[in-house]
Amino acid sequence: MSNYAKAKGTPIEKIIKGQMQAELSGAGMYFALARAAKAQNLDDVADVFKKLANEHIAQASFYAEFCGRYPFEKEELWQFVKGLSKAEYCGEKAILELSDKVKKAGFTEAAEVLKTFAAQHKHHAEVTSELVEKYASDNVKQNTKKRYVCGICGFEYEGDMDSEPDDYTCPICGMPKSVFKQK
Ligand SMILES: [Fe+2]
Repeated sequence: MSNYAKAKGTPIEKIIKGQMQAELSGAGMYFALARAAKAQNLDDVADVFKKLANEHIAQASFYAEFCGRYPFEKEELWQFVKGLSKAEYCGEKAILELSDKVKKAGFTEAAEVLKTFAAQHKHHAEVTSELVEKYASDNVKQNTKKRYVCGICGFEYEGDMDSEPDDYTCPICGMPKSVFKQK
């Protein structure tokens, strides 16, 4: 049975969202520890940390579902992925800019790593866009609805944003409704 959005609008919503963030932070920490272990040639330890990190991510995804953080139904899911693809392209651009800044600060090697991250964002954008093309309904693929762009991450919202509650936040970067501009 799905727990989708069961906590939404209830007194426990806030605490569930907080727990989701805590698990995501925990996952980041364990992945970082895995890098540290790998640097010490402790590959078996790195594998253990990665496993723990993945468990934290799985837990975070449960909380995300429980508080209805992301869409669940077919039509809404593909509408969301379509907007997400745009955000991934923006992510590529943002990380390339960051790479330049890092390079100017004198960290050439790190700047090169960031370039590979930017390429990953581009790949994510392409993959998600291909999935929309393959699985989304014509209704989702058409650009007939009103469109709003998040000024922070580039996520594109399609539909009537006025119908969203005042406390609506960007599902990608978490910024408030006020950062969205109509396209
Ligand atoms: Fe955003």
